[in-house]
Amino acid sequence: MKKCVTTAAGVAGWALTAGLASGALAYDKGDMLLRFGVATVDPQTSTGELTSNGAEVPIGDDLVDVKAGTAAGISFTYMFTPLVGLELLAATPFSHDIDADGGLRQLGLDQIGTTRHLPPTLSVQYYPFGNADQPWQLYLGVGVNFTWFFDEELDSDTKAALGVDDADFSLKDSWGLAASVGFDWLFGEHWLVNASLMWADIDTEASIDNSVLGDLTVRDIQIDPLVYRINAGYRF
Ligand code: NI
Repeated sequence: MKKCVTTAAGVAGWALTAGLASGALAYDKGDMLLRFGVATVDPQTSTGELTSNGAEVPIGDDLVDVKAGTAAGISFTYMFTPLVGLELLAATPFSHDIDADGGLRQLGLDQIGTTRHLPPTLSVQYYPFGNADQPWQLYLGVGVNFTWFFDEELDSDTKAALGVDDADFSLKDSWGLAASVGFDWLFGEHWLVNASLMWADIDTEASIDNSVLGDLTVRDIQIDPLVYRINAGYRF
Protein backbone atom coordinates (compact mmCIF):
# COMPACT_ATOMS: atom_id res chain seq x y z
CA MET A 1 0.00 0.00 0.00
CA LYS A 2 2.71 2.38 1.02
CA LYS A 3 4.69 1.56 -2.08
CA CYS A 4 1.58 2.09 -4.17
CA VAL A 5 1.00 5.61 -2.74
CA THR A 6 4.66 6.45 -3.25
CA THR A 7 4.42 5.30 -6.85
CA ALA A 8 1.23 7.34 -7.45
CA ALA A 9 2.87 10.43 -5.95
CA GLY A 10 5.90 9.78 -8.12
CA VAL A 11 3.77 9.54 -11.27
CA ALA A 12 1.83 12.69 -10.33
CA GLY A 13 5.10 14.52 -9.68
CA TRP A 14 6.50 13.34 -12.98
CA ALA A 15 3.34 14.41 -14.85
CA LEU A 16 3.44 17.85 -13.21
CA THR A 17 7.10 18.32 -14.04
CA ALA A 18 6.56 17.10 -17.60
CA GLY A 19 3.59 19.44 -17.95
CA LEU A 20 5.58 22.44 -16.79
CA ALA A 21 8.59 21.47 -18.85
CA SER A 22 6.49 21.35 -22.01
CA GLY A 23 4.96 24.73 -21.11
CA ALA A 24 1.50 24.40 -19.56
CA LEU A 25 0.87 28.08 -20.30
CA ALA A 26 2.39 28.11 -23.77
CA TYR A 27 -0.03 27.72 -26.67
CA ASP A 28 0.11 24.49 -28.56
CA LYS A 29 -0.91 23.05 -31.90
CA GLY A 30 -4.53 21.93 -31.62
CA ASP A 31 -5.44 24.32 -28.80
CA MET A 32 -8.87 25.91 -29.16
CA LEU A 33 -9.52 29.31 -27.60
CA LEU A 34 -13.00 30.62 -26.91
CA ARG A 35 -13.23 34.31 -25.99
CA PHE A 36 -16.60 35.82 -25.05
CA GLY A 37 -17.62 39.21 -23.69
CA VAL A 38 -18.58 42.72 -24.72
CA ALA A 39 -17.82 44.28 -28.11
CA THR A 40 -18.26 47.93 -29.08
CA VAL A 41 -18.23 49.02 -32.73
CA ASP A 42 -17.14 52.67 -32.90
CA PRO A 43 -17.48 54.03 -36.48
CA GLN A 44 -15.00 56.61 -37.80
CA THR A 45 -17.43 57.77 -40.48
CA SER A 46 -16.88 59.87 -43.56
CA THR A 47 -19.07 59.98 -46.68
CA GLY A 48 -19.13 60.98 -50.31
CA GLU A 49 -21.87 63.04 -51.97
CA LEU A 50 -25.66 62.82 -52.03
CA THR A 51 -27.29 61.86 -55.31
CA SER A 52 -30.91 62.21 -56.34
CA ASN A 53 -31.86 59.71 -59.06
CA GLY A 54 -28.18 59.48 -59.96
CA ALA A 55 -27.49 63.25 -60.18
CA GLU A 56 -25.24 64.86 -57.58
CA VAL A 57 -26.91 67.22 -55.10
CA PRO A 58 -24.35 69.98 -54.33
CA ILE A 59 -24.40 69.94 -50.54
CA GLY A 60 -20.85 68.69 -50.02
CA ASP A 61 -19.76 65.48 -48.36
CA ASP A 62 -19.47 64.08 -44.79
CA LEU A 63 -23.26 63.89 -44.71
CA VAL A 64 -23.90 61.28 -42.03
CA ASP A 65 -22.50 60.28 -38.67
CA VAL A 66 -22.94 56.65 -37.58
CA LYS A 67 -23.03 56.31 -33.79
CA ALA A 68 -21.33 53.56 -31.76
CA GLY A 69 -23.10 50.31 -30.85
CA THR A 70 -22.36 47.58 -28.28
CA ALA A 71 -23.24 43.88 -28.36
CA ALA A 72 -22.12 40.51 -27.05
CA GLY A 73 -19.11 39.21 -28.97
CA ILE A 74 -17.69 35.72 -29.21
CA SER A 75 -14.70 34.37 -31.08
CA PHE A 76 -13.25 30.94 -31.64
CA THR A 77 -9.57 30.39 -32.47
CA TYR A 78 -7.97 27.15 -33.60
CA MET A 79 -4.18 27.01 -33.20
CA PHE A 80 -2.51 25.40 -36.23
CA THR A 81 0.91 25.83 -34.57
CA PRO A 82 1.90 27.44 -31.22
CA LEU A 83 2.39 30.68 -33.18
CA VAL A 84 -0.46 30.71 -35.72
CA GLY A 85 -4.21 30.49 -35.20
CA LEU A 86 -7.37 31.03 -37.25
CA GLU A 87 -10.11 33.08 -35.58
CA LEU A 88 -13.80 33.37 -36.40
CA LEU A 89 -15.46 36.35 -34.74
CA ALA A 90 -19.22 36.52 -34.30
CA ALA A 91 -21.59 38.69 -32.28
CA THR A 92 -25.18 39.38 -31.46
CA PRO A 93 -26.57 42.17 -33.69
CA PHE A 94 -25.22 45.69 -33.21
CA SER A 95 -27.65 48.65 -33.39
CA HIS A 96 -26.53 52.04 -34.64
CA ASP A 97 -28.17 55.45 -34.90
CA ILE A 98 -27.46 57.22 -38.17
CA ASP A 99 -27.44 61.00 -37.73
CA ALA A 100 -27.39 63.75 -40.33
CA ASP A 101 -24.19 65.74 -40.60
CA GLY A 102 -22.81 68.59 -42.75
CA GLY A 103 -25.12 69.64 -45.61
CA LEU A 104 -27.90 67.23 -44.60
CA ARG A 105 -27.99 68.76 -41.11
CA GLN A 106 -28.15 72.24 -42.66
CA LEU A 107 -31.19 71.05 -44.62
CA GLY A 108 -32.90 70.39 -41.28
CA LEU A 109 -32.39 66.65 -40.90
CA ASP A 110 -31.38 65.33 -37.47
CA GLN A 111 -31.53 61.59 -36.80
CA ILE A 112 -31.99 59.93 -40.19
CA GLY A 113 -32.69 56.43 -38.95
CA THR A 114 -31.27 53.28 -37.43
CA THR A 115 -29.74 50.06 -38.66
CA ARG A 116 -28.65 46.76 -37.24
CA HIS A 117 -25.76 44.67 -38.51
CA LEU A 118 -23.74 41.51 -38.04
CA PRO A 119 -20.01 41.70 -38.79
CA PRO A 120 -18.57 38.15 -38.98
CA THR A 121 -14.79 38.27 -39.41
CA LEU A 122 -12.29 35.51 -40.24
CA SER A 123 -8.67 36.29 -39.29
CA VAL A 124 -5.27 34.64 -39.27
CA GLN A 125 -3.57 35.41 -35.95
CA TYR A 126 0.14 35.45 -35.18
CA TYR A 127 1.27 34.85 -31.57
CA PRO A 128 4.98 35.85 -31.47
CA PHE A 129 5.37 34.46 -27.92
CA GLY A 130 3.10 31.43 -28.40
CA ASN A 131 5.90 29.02 -27.44
CA ALA A 132 6.71 30.83 -24.18
CA ASP A 133 5.53 29.35 -20.87
CA GLN A 134 4.36 32.68 -19.46
CA PRO A 135 1.00 34.02 -18.19
CA TRP A 136 0.40 36.41 -21.10
CA GLN A 137 0.18 36.20 -24.86
CA LEU A 138 -0.02 38.88 -27.52
CA TYR A 139 -1.39 38.43 -31.01
CA LEU A 140 -1.72 40.28 -34.28
CA GLY A 141 -4.47 39.41 -36.73
CA VAL A 142 -5.34 40.13 -40.34
CA GLY A 143 -8.48 38.92 -42.03
CA VAL A 144 -11.68 39.48 -43.94
CA ASN A 145 -14.84 41.12 -42.62
CA PHE A 146 -18.35 40.73 -44.02
CA THR A 147 -20.91 43.18 -42.67
CA TRP A 148 -24.57 42.44 -43.21
CA PHE A 149 -26.91 45.39 -42.59
CA PHE A 150 -30.55 44.66 -41.79
CA ASP A 151 -33.64 46.17 -40.11
CA GLU A 152 -32.84 49.61 -41.54
CA GLU A 153 -35.50 52.08 -40.41
CA LEU A 154 -36.12 55.73 -41.26
CA ASP A 155 -36.89 58.10 -38.42
CA SER A 156 -40.40 59.62 -38.56
CA ASP A 157 -38.87 63.14 -38.59
CA THR A 158 -36.89 62.19 -41.70
CA LYS A 159 -40.04 60.99 -43.45
CA ALA A 160 -41.79 64.21 -42.45
CA ALA A 161 -38.87 66.32 -43.74
CA LEU A 162 -38.95 64.42 -47.06
CA GLY A 163 -42.75 64.77 -47.20
CA VAL A 164 -43.41 61.02 -47.53
CA ASP A 165 -45.41 58.54 -45.46
CA ASP A 166 -43.01 55.70 -46.06
CA ALA A 167 -39.85 54.95 -47.96
CA ASP A 168 -37.52 52.04 -48.38
CA PHE A 169 -34.24 52.61 -46.52
CA SER A 170 -31.31 50.32 -47.15
CA LEU A 171 -27.58 50.04 -46.56
CA LYS A 172 -25.39 48.03 -48.91
CA ASP A 173 -23.56 45.04 -47.37
CA SER A 174 -19.77 45.28 -47.18
CA TRP A 175 -16.72 43.06 -47.66
CA GLY A 176 -13.37 44.39 -46.45
CA LEU A 177 -10.07 43.79 -44.71
CA ALA A 178 -9.74 43.68 -40.93
CA ALA A 179 -6.65 44.04 -38.73
CA SER A 180 -6.46 43.37 -35.01
CA VAL A 181 -4.26 43.23 -31.96
CA GLY A 182 -5.12 41.38 -28.76
CA PHE A 183 -3.79 40.43 -25.37
CA ASP A 184 -4.52 37.33 -23.27
CA TRP A 185 -3.76 37.01 -19.57
CA LEU A 186 -3.83 33.36 -18.49
CA PHE A 187 -4.93 32.05 -15.10
CA GLY A 188 -3.57 28.53 -15.28
CA GLU A 189 -4.04 26.20 -18.19
CA HIS A 190 -7.66 26.99 -19.12
CA TRP A 191 -9.03 30.38 -18.09
CA LEU A 192 -7.92 33.74 -19.39
CA VAL A 193 -9.02 37.35 -19.69
CA ASN A 194 -8.59 39.17 -22.98
CA ALA A 195 -8.72 42.63 -24.49
CA SER A 196 -8.57 43.29 -28.21
CA LEU A 197 -8.78 46.11 -30.73
CA MET A 198 -9.82 45.58 -34.34
CA TRP A 199 -10.06 47.91 -37.32
CA ALA A 200 -12.32 46.87 -40.17
CA ASP A 201 -12.73 48.41 -43.60
CA ILE A 202 -16.52 48.67 -43.81
CA ASP A 203 -17.80 50.73 -46.73
CA THR A 204 -21.44 51.14 -47.72
CA GLU A 205 -24.06 53.26 -49.48
CA ALA A 206 -27.31 54.42 -47.90
CA SER A 207 -30.38 54.68 -50.14
CA ILE A 208 -33.87 56.00 -49.59
CA ASP A 209 -36.37 54.88 -52.22
CA ASN A 210 -39.89 56.18 -52.62
CA SER A 211 -42.27 56.16 -55.60
CA VAL A 212 -42.58 59.98 -55.51
CA LEU A 213 -39.01 60.97 -54.55
CA GLY A 214 -37.28 58.28 -56.56
CA ASP A 215 -33.86 57.39 -55.21
CA LEU A 216 -31.74 59.38 -52.76
CA THR A 217 -28.33 57.88 -52.08
CA VAL A 218 -25.40 58.90 -49.90
CA ARG A 219 -22.39 57.39 -51.68
CA ASP A 220 -19.06 56.08 -50.43
CA ILE A 221 -19.86 55.89 -46.72
CA GLN A 222 -16.63 54.84 -44.98
CA ILE A 223 -17.68 53.43 -41.61
CA ASP A 224 -14.22 51.89 -40.96
CA PRO A 225 -14.86 51.30 -37.23
CA LEU A 226 -12.61 50.52 -34.33
CA VAL A 227 -13.98 47.48 -32.48
CA TYR A 228 -13.13 47.20 -28.79
CA ARG A 229 -13.60 43.87 -27.03
CA ILE A 230 -13.23 42.83 -23.38
CA ASN A 231 -13.54 39.08 -22.83
CA ALA A 232 -13.29 36.12 -20.58
CA GLY A 233 -11.75 33.15 -22.32
CA TYR A 234 -11.29 29.42 -22.06
CA ARG A 235 -8.68 27.20 -23.67
CA PHE A 236 -9.62 23.63 -24.59
NI1 NI B 1 -13.20 52.09 -45.96
